[in-house]
Amino acid sequence: MKTAIEIKDLSVIFPSRSGPVTALDNLNLEIKQGEVTGFLGPNGAGKTTTMHVLLGFIKATSGYASIFGTDVRKSIARNKIGYLPEHPDAYRFMTGREILKMTGHLFLLKGKKLHTRIGEVLQLTGIEHAANRRIATYSRGMMQRICMAQALINDPDLLILDEPTGGLDPIGRQAVRQIINNLRKQGKTIFFSSHELSEVELVCDQLIILANGKVVAKGNSAQLIKSGENLEQYFMDVITTKDI
Ligand SMILES: Nc1ncnc2c1ncn2[C@@H]1O[C@H](COP(=O)(O)OP(=O)(O)OP(=O)(O)O)[C@@H](O)[C@H]1O
Ligand SMILES: [Mg+2]
Repeated sequence: MKTAIEIKDLSVIFPSRSGPVTALDNLNLEIKQGEVTGFLGPNGAGKTTTMHVLLGFIKATSGYASIFGTDVRKSIARNKIGYLPEHPDAYRFMTGREILKMTGHLFLLKGKKLHTRIGEVLQLTGIEHAANRRIATYSRGMMQRICMAQALINDPDLLILDEPTGGLDPIGRQAVRQIINNLRKQGKTIFFSSHELSEVELVCDQLIILANGKVVAKGNSAQLIKSGENLEQYFMDVITTKDI
């Protein structure tokens, strides 16, 4: 299997008034193409920062990161990425369909192809009933869904999803699980952060637990979790007992 994401000795240190904040501390990780990876860790562990480096939003202080073999500092590395931010938002004066059309244009999609793709992503994310309504009238979960649809419009090979189930009702969480499972069947690589440990256990091939900007555990749930325990217990053990 080819490598989808490679991160080597990556550090991110933010300046702040009270002194530098080390968000990532010589981070190393590798994600293979076609894998679904759950990225876990307490608040402030460095999950969003890792994603922001991969997306080219921030520059690492040191180290290296690549996507499908291309250095993330080159914009071409982001060609085949779909991204759902931690706090999804969209132009509220537009309708869901208009947002998707605009996003499609950014990826040079047009005409019948774009029309068909919009229909597909609306259906996949379960928001087609509200596609012609202004985003201003959407609930938080509906906003999450339309932004997920936006992330999928270019049929990306790699999806980076920062807490995709945050703010969703149980039906919405199940829908995200289904979307992830569908994408997995298509051979897509999915890297997503979450605090919903029971959800993560259900969909992931691999779990990576981050604390203080370092990987503290990595593997599939069968490798990590003792029989009779669950991911929440394991997570608490690893976070509270490891020397981090
Ligand atoms: N722009 C910034 N300036 C200063 N410090 C920052 C900045 N962005 C993030 N940090 C710090 O970097 C660390 C990692 O933050 P990050 O947002 O990556 O955590 P996270 O794992 O995504 O947390 P959460 O689960 O709360 O979303 C935190 O200590 C945070 O305060
Ligand atoms: Mg975050």
